[in-house]
Amino acid sequence: MNILDIIEHKKREKELTKEEIDYFIKNYTAGEITDYQAAALIMAICINGMTQNEILNLTNSMANSGDILDLSDISDNVIDKHSTGGVGDKITLIVMPIVASLGIPVGKMSGRGLGITGGTADKLESIPGYNINISVEEFKNNIKEIGISLMSQTCNLTPADKKIYALRDAISCANSIPLIASSIMSKKIASGANSIVLDVTCGKGSYMKNKEDAKRLAKMMNLIGKLAKIKTVCVLTNMDEPLGYSVGNSLEVIEAIQALKGNMAKDVEEVVFNMVFQMMRLSGKYQKNEINKKKVLEVINNGKAFEKFKELVARQNGDVTYIENPEKFEKAPIITPIISNEDGYIEKLDAYKIGKAGLELGIGRKRKEDNIDYRVGIVFDKKIGDRVKKDEILAYVHSNSAEKSIECVEAIKQAYKIGNKKIIKKNIIEIID
Ligand code: URA
Repeated sequence: MNILDIIEHKKREKELTKEEIDYFIKNYTAGEITDYQAAALIMAICINGMTQNEILNLTNSMANSGDILDLSDISDNVIDKHSTGGVGDKITLIVMPIVASLGIPVGKMSGRGLGITGGTADKLESIPGYNINISVEEFKNNIKEIGISLMSQTCNLTPADKKIYALRDAISCANSIPLIASSIMSKKIASGANSIVLDVTCGKGSYMKNKEDAKRLAKMMNLIGKLAKIKTVCVLTNMDEPLGYSVGNSLEVIEAIQALKGNMAKDVEEVVFNMVFQMMRLSGKYQKNEINKKKVLEVINNGKAFEKFKELVARQNGDVTYIENPEKFEKAPIITPIISNEDGYIEKLDAYKIGKAGLELGIGRKRKEDNIDYRVGIVFDKKIGDRVKKDEILAYVHSNSAEKSIECVEAIKQAYKIGNKKIIKKNIIEIID
């Protein structure tokens, strides 16, 4: 067998065999297949798609490219969540402490941001001292002892996905259903979760631009989960505008802190509650939705969810005084308001344009090796559906240079559409299980 034949088969739309997929994954992970050969195959997959069998084989092969965690000594039902990615997505930082404070053990390996999609690992690292690179042993101990741990994918978990994900981003192959489904589900299989709730984002700031594609992706991940005996629920959520009031690493941590204290933006609240309800249902401990809402409000209002977040930060060496006094987070040197020059309602706030503007500010990386600036970002005063008057502030740009600030203000003005229709946006599109 050789890689050229495999590329040729995919190029000619032939179904790849399990042996061919295993050969590619094994040899690419080991560095025996070059990046340009892998890029050719990935591009052929992206263009020609994959059959269900190919996707299942690719997922299993990637899951088995590294270690498979065994979390059975922690619980027979460890619950995980994952998002297919978006702009301003700080849901993990809010959902995980809430669920842990309800007595459901949660552990998650979080990724770094790539492209316009932010990463929870970067957001957590904006908390001074927070150690995201803990060992698997520490990860497991944290879940056992305090019911929660959030670490980065540093151990030898799905190394094939790590390489392929970075390659896809560099060759414009991120938005492929077979590749997203196998990337996410291989990580979930390898990380030992028994149940998962997947936030499948849909809209301008997401890989899936329309509902039909988001549903196809959700159904594929449900099928993979079922075959791997992992209870899987997909929550389809709207990503046409950025989620919540902030985009940027420490700015999103600050928003998450406020949310855990009960002060949530409406769109964040809708996604958080729906994700938490599904995780509660999958835990088997909570079944009735009416009671579940009361329980969630209880742990937010009595401060337990916020305390759980502090416990997590302290356990992973983060400076808890920043969580207690978020004003301690260092601010970007230049903060510029964006002023509306008309009256009306916000009809659009394009998440893709915001994501790109954020990338230029230094929120994320254009290339894997780029440095990011935790302080920079965008804070919105007005979002879709809000009324705005001429000369009112739409948003603030937090920047580290005057030049970037000017460019970003212009880009954000282009992302807003002000008209005379009051749009009511629905954030939960559908739940598929
Ligand atoms: N998140 C992942 O982990 N992989 C993808 O391909 C897309 C989003």
